[in-house]
Amino acid sequence: MSLWGGRFQDGSSAMFRRVNDSLPFDRALASQDIRGSIAWSKAIYKAGVLTQDEQQQLEQALRALLVKAEAGTLDFDASSEEDIHSFVEATLIEQLGDIARKLHTGRSRNDQVATDFRLWTREHVDLLIADLENVKASLVGTASHNKIVILPGYTHLQRAQPVRYPHWCLAYVEMFKRDISRLRDLRVRLNQSPLGCGALAGTTYPIDRYEIANELGFDSPCLNSLDAVSDRDFVLELLFAASTSMMHMSRMAEDLIFFNSGEAGFITLGDEVTSGSSLMPQKKNPDALELMRGKCGRVFGSLQGMLVTMKGLPLAYNKDMQEDKEGLLDAVTQWHICLCIACEVIDSIKLDSERCAKAAREGYANATELADYLVAKGIPFRTAHDISGQVVLAALEKKKAIEELSIAELQQFSDLIENDVYEILQLEYLVNKRSILGGTGIDPVSKALDAELAQIK
Ligand code: ARG
Repeated sequence: MSLWGGRFQDGSSAMFRRVNDSLPFDRALASQDIRGSIAWSKAIYKAGVLTQDEQQQLEQALRALLVKAEAGTLDFDASSEEDIHSFVEATLIEQLGDIARKLHTGRSRNDQVATDFRLWTREHVDLLIADLENVKASLVGTASHNKIVILPGYTHLQRAQPVRYPHWCLAYVEMFKRDISRLRDLRVRLNQSPLGCGALAGTTYPIDRYEIANELGFDSPCLNSLDAVSDRDFVLELLFAASTSMMHMSRMAEDLIFFNSGEAGFITLGDEVTSGSSLMPQKKNPDALELMRGKCGRVFGSLQGMLVTMKGLPLAYNKDMQEDKEGLLDAVTQWHICLCIACEVIDSIKLDSERCAKAAREGYANATELADYLVAKGIPFRTAHDISGQVVLAALEKKKAIEELSIAELQQFSDLIENDVYEILQLEYLVNKRSILGGTGIDPVSKALDAELAQIK
């Protein structure tokens, strides 16, 4: 039975149903819809629309439905209802008859869907914060187990300066911390209640909007009914948070795919997060990481899709807005899956510290150090940079590392170079010299790691 049949003489076409019905996907909002309805039944009882007995019967039936919704046993497929709101109402009417026909008094599906989706979003924000905390914990875990490993740091994917492995891990921890703070931030903005705004202009019934907001855990009611029923900023904000976090994960995946390559060989990944080739028996492919990178496409696409959907909509509600759900549902699911698999991948990392150190030593990553050595001897940095560059060129021609050149060879470029230069060209030395806050020296890295360890519950 349709919710709006009275004015119509003919039924909907099959194709109209296909384009218009949202039950196939907004069934995901079942428990939020039911909880919203329980709160609404209380509000309209207080407004004098329902007797206490009617409210209690409704609440009892709704609570029974909630149990089924949470157990995933509601039979949506047998229903011909248009959306989750009509599904819940029709199910109640079937059980309770006329009493249930009173539930929608003073309410519209417009304030209802806005409420349901805010509740859903809020719950998922909390789950995603927990997922992000887990990824942080995995990164801190692998960092703690490999505290002293040094590997090359890159710019332009050229070996630039060596860094400690925990420093690399903590760089991603910083990104995931920002993702968490973005979620906390948007949670505050979304946590307002549209209930009582009606279709667009507010309801005529004396609903205590503060009370119903409180009942559903919202901080306050939305302040303008036109805005309340047609605001989907919370959807956009969560899609942006998802996109940014997926981008962070994709960059991490890209680093790890490279570290795992035959060429780098810095890490190996567990069998449980890699796959083989049907043709080439030797292969062990980093599929999980590739999918963390690959799934960005659809998540970014959902953000773009929703922006475009909203941009031309006049106030207030328009059916276009029904398109808000599938993109967000999918983005949240993919983000959650990626955060979970990220933990498994990180937990499975085995480092080859020898290869890391060898690569860090190669590629003239200590050339900056030589320049700084000359600066300490009174040479202006620009000149020192030039001298160090000439040393690199000479070493390249001799197929040697800088520290493999003899003191006589080095002194051809500057007579200020003395035997003590060999110490400063050592890997450990040049890493530890970066002891500034935020640097890759053992002191700042240990402090940063300890601070993160202390945060993990
Ligand atoms: N299924 C709709 C949606 O998701 C619910 C609101 C429908 N409101 C309306 N006036 N047709 O947006």
